[in-house]
Amino acid sequence: MTDASTVSPLAIIVLAAGKGTRMKSDLHKVLHSIAGRPMLMHLMASAAALSPERQVVVAGHGREQLEKALAGSADIAVQDPQLGTGHAVQQAEAALAGFGGDVLILYGDVPFVRAETMRAMLERLHGADNPAVVVLGFEPEDTLQYGRVIAADGVVTRMVEHKDASEAERACRLCNSGLMAVRGTELFGLLARVGNDNAQGEYYLTDIVNVANADGRVCAVVTTDDADEVMGINSRGELAEAESRWQKKRRVQAMADGATLVAPETVWFAYDTQVGRDVTIEQNVVFGPGVTVADRVVIHAFSHVEGAALGEGVSIGPFARIRPGSVLEEGSRIGNFVEMKNTRLGKGAKANHLTYLGDADVGAAANIGAGTITCNYDGYFKHRTVIGERAFIGSNSSLIAPIKIGADAIVAAGSAVSRDVSDGELRLVRADQLVKPGWADRFHDAMKKKKAEKAKG
Ligand code: UD1
Ligand code: MG
Repeated sequence: MTDASTVSPLAIIVLAAGKGTRMKSDLHKVLHSIAGRPMLMHLMASAAALSPERQVVVAGHGREQLEKALAGSADIAVQDPQLGTGHAVQQAEAALAGFGGDVLILYGDVPFVRAETMRAMLERLHGADNPAVVVLGFEPEDTLQYGRVIAADGVVTRMVEHKDASEAERACRLCNSGLMAVRGTELFGLLARVGNDNAQGEYYLTDIVNVANADGRVCAVVTTDDADEVMGINSRGELAEAESRWQKKRRVQAMADGATLVAPETVWFAYDTQVGRDVTIEQNVVFGPGVTVADRVVIHAFSHVEGAALGEGVSIGPFARIRPGSVLEEGSRIGNFVEMKNTRLGKGAKANHLTYLGDADVGAAANIGAGTITCNYDGYFKHRTVIGERAFIGSNSSLIAPIKIGADAIVAAGSAVSRDVSDGELRLVRADQLVKPGWADRFHDAMKKKKAEKAKG
């Protein structure tokens, strides 16, 4: 398929001024996340494949939230009050002043439209019959909440909202996804001629088709048979459904790429999780954003991984919690109930049981005993712990940062270490032992006797 964006420059307009009432949320509807990324950013990422020259997001409520999320990557046009989809698109006019390329109109709450579909719409816009508008149509199971596309052979004769439609029109199954492609040179002229004399008293974007038809222009419909792609997300229920569909596809992809998922339906990926070959992911594993998993890694059941790089042949869990800034080098191992944050675990190093490693650098082949804690926070600042290669940290040690443990050093079990340990040193920080042979036997004898006398009364 040729890249339509190379034919003509592209601008996208994303509508996101709707109130999103059904979400019942202080967070803007389009900023609710799916697979760890706001739905708006999923859409922007797909559109980015077409290299748009301009991007305008039309915002109403929660404009500050959108500004923050977009961080300057798109212009924001404000629509206040919200007088309909056509009126919303009109608000982008100033931002697109002087733009003569193609315009693709998208909905912020319809985040999973594929770049291929967007491309197909733009290609159709440059068809031989020179359509004024290209509409993306689909056939939903339930047509009730959609506008109808009355068309024959891909040519649209009328667009009508459900509320305005006749019985015969309502019987038509081809619905409007809402997405449209129009030339920048024509869009705002068409919109200026749209009125609001309809059931909802709104300026309908769909009416640009009717206006163009009245001029004798062709308007075309491109269809998608993947209804999921154009599914709008309006409520928490629909958000959860969209998440579930996304995860299902991602799991299938991970398996196709050579990972074993023992119970695929229990593994949750993030939008950017990268998984290598011959990786095994056991039951109930959750990935937050920013994880790369190299080949031959094993992630045991009930592990939670976020912002981490798992090197080749690494093994973690069960019940491992790997937090942002963690780098596990080749062949290193993290066992059960171990938490890691902002820590490098060197090649072949191990922390197999009940440990917290925060702001630490662990040398290759070091062994971190059960219950070791890096005390990295003093209530005000974070401090680093550096552990040398092959160092052995005995069980239940507290390493009070900032601190350095030398290569090949041994920290005796139960030590609370607050001063640096040099290479090859043994450090033992615990009280002298009091040894009293036979004391316990004598104690038990005395106490048993006492109890027996008391019972006799
Ligand atoms: C719209 C279409 C309908 C289509 C349906 C698909 C029109 C007139 N109708 O109907 O044909 O089948 O979408 O879901 O276009 N928005 C604004 N400002 C407004 C109104 C809406 O930005 O003043 C945004 C919303 O945030 C949303 C999108 O436009 O992202 C669609 O709005 P919505 O109210 O859901 O339109 P529908 O009535 O469902
Ligand atoms: Mg809607």
